Formats: sequence, C-alpha cells, structure tokens
Amino acid sequence: MGSGFAAAPDEKNKASTPQPLWLTEHHPNLKSLLQEVEGRIAALARSEVELLDEAGQYVVSGRGKRLRPALLLLSAEACGGVNPLALETAAVVELIHTASLVHDDVLDEASARRGKASARALWGNKVSVLLGDYLLCRAVCRLEEIAADSMVDKLLITTQQMCEGQISEITETGGGLNEARYLKIITQKTASLMGFCCWLGACAVGLKFGTAFQIADDIHDLIGSQESSGKPVNNDLRQKKVTLPLIFSLRRAEEEERAFLQSALSQETLSEGQLGEMRRIAIACGGVDYAWSVCRKYLEEARGALLSLAEARPTHGGQAYQALLLSCGEAFPLPVMA
Ligand code: FPP
Ligand code: MG
Repeated sequence: MGSGFAAAPDEKNKASTPQPLWLTEHHPNLKSLLQEVEGRIAALARSEVELLDEAGQYVVSGRGKRLRPALLLLSAEACGGVNPLALETAAVVELIHTASLVHDDVLDEASARRGKASARALWGNKVSVLLGDYLLCRAVCRLEEIAADSMVDKLLITTQQMCEGQISEITETGGGLNEARYLKIITQKTASLMGFCCWLGACAVGLKFGTAFQIADDIHDLIGSQESSGKPVNNDLRQKKVTLPLIFSLRRAEEEERAFLQSALSQETLSEGQLGEMRRIAIACGGVDYAWSVCRKYLEEARGALLSLAEARPTHGGQAYQALLLSCGEAFPLPVMA
C-alpha cells in the first residue's frame, strides 16, 4: 500500500518508510493543471461580506491535498482531455469538500485542519456553520452556471449522501457497528464525493457525443423525413424552437430572408408553404452545412476522446490512466502535489 498512508510516527518505521510518491511527479501536467485550479478555488470562495471573505480565503488556502480536483482532472484526461469545464468543476468539487470539512470540524470539535487552526478555532461554530453553507452554495451556483443539469442533480445527491454518512457516523457509535454498516457510512461520507469527481471528469466524452447527437437530430427535424426517422419532422419549427441551422441562417441570411425568418418565428402558426420557405433559406444560406460541420467537430472530439481512452489502457502506457492507477496503488491515498 502507499507510502504516504503507511507512514507511522515511530522512529523504526520512519527509517524503513520510502519517500512519498507524489502523483504530480508521475504525470506531466497535473501540477500545472492544479495550479490553474487554485485561482478558481480562491475566486469561488470570495464574498462581499468581509468576515465570510476572510474566513473563506483562509480555509481554501493551507495544505489541502487537492485530491478531489486531481481525481477529476485525471478522469477527464483519461476520457479525452482536460477542458475549461473540467478545470472549473475541479474548483467546484474542492469547494464542496472544503465546506464539508468546515462543518466536519464543528461536529468533531476539531481545533486544527490542513496544518493550521480550524475555522471554528478562529471564528467559532456559528461562523463556521455559515461559512460551510456559504461555500456549498457558491459551489452549487457555479456548477449550475457552467454545467449540465444532470451534473448539478448528481452533485446534490452526492451531498445528501455525505450528510447521511455523517449523521449515521455520529449516531451509530459503539461496538455494535458491523463492517457492512461501516463500509456503507464511509462510502456515503467520503467515497461518494470522490466518485462524483471521477464521474464529472469522465462526462467529457458523453457530453461531446450527446451534443453531436442532438445537433444531428435538430438538422433532421428541419430537413429530414418521417419515413427515414419514424417520427414527425418540423416539430421544432412549428413550436418556434430555433436550432443551429436556423441560428446560423438568422446570422447570415440577406436582409429580406432574415426578415422573413423573424416574422415567421413570431407567428402563432405556420403554413406548409412558410415551413418550406424556412427550410429552403436554411439550406441556401449554409445553415444546414454549418450545423453539420459543428456536429462533425463534436463527433471528432468524442471519437478522439474514446480513442485516447483506449490508448490509456495500461498496456499502452497512457499517463492519465497510469496516474489514476498510481492513486489506487503506490501513491494511495495522500500525496497529490509536492
Ligand atoms: C471528514 O471525516 C468528513 C467528511 C469526509 C465528510 C463531511 C460531510 C459533511 C459534514 C456533510 C456534508 C456537508 C457539506 C457542506 C457538503 P473525518 O472526520 O473522518 O476526517 P478528518 O479526520 O479529516 O476530520
Ligand atoms: Mg473530522
């Protein structure tokens, strides 16, 4: 098992314990990626209320291992690449984790955290409860701004599980706790957030494919036929839903055609003739071609992500995969960044 975890304080053990194996030393970009995330974490923890701002900046600085952002970034890379969404969500998960530790220190009456005095030791329990609440809300709001609803839903379920794990831990005390309950509790309070981090990182592939899929579906709704898809077409237009071919057409069409599109989109109902003219304009001014090109770009990215996932198998020596393996092996569970 990992050196960082196995280290025991007595002299005998110290001599035989190898140096910690930092994950960042085994992955070419992890350290610089985590450094990029740092600024985002600090920005997310800001408040215009002086006390919250001071306490927020205090708890997010300090000797945090940044294990959760590291898991998220490595999962993203193993599944095709770290993008701005992965960097921003890495900050979100660290903020959630920090919020949970601020609350945990209240529950555990702990005086130190991350190598310095805990928030409750400095500001007391009342401020700490509100600080944890504030950081949690900031993180959820940010995720809502930048990510898919399914990610926000999953985060909320994860935090529910963390609360359930914590409450079980403080109520199910004493010698009666069996192994199965113990495993359930630590899965909820600790593993659930780490699992969420890996899931969030891995979402990159699914999101690319899903975006390509929906663009293709929207093109088909505009110019396809019921025979080929087995479902009615032009439904988007009938409901004045503007999809990518039309968005492009509204941007590029000549004045007269643009005016026609705008006026058609503001009408209650559309005749077959109007629908036909809208389709014609979307094709003629390149909206459909443009939508296909965007669709192909997303598909390429999804394909590239899947290929790099295949390449990341251990036999091919993929670095992200290897770093993830390390985090489950020699580097388990502590060291991330030297
Ligand atoms: C540390 O456990 C605590 C956790 C891993 C989870 C804490 C979760 C909550 C307080 C509920 C969720 C709250 C929010 C704001 C999302 P520990 O006490 O065993 O570890 P420690 O030794 O580091 O204190
Ligand atoms: Mg604790």
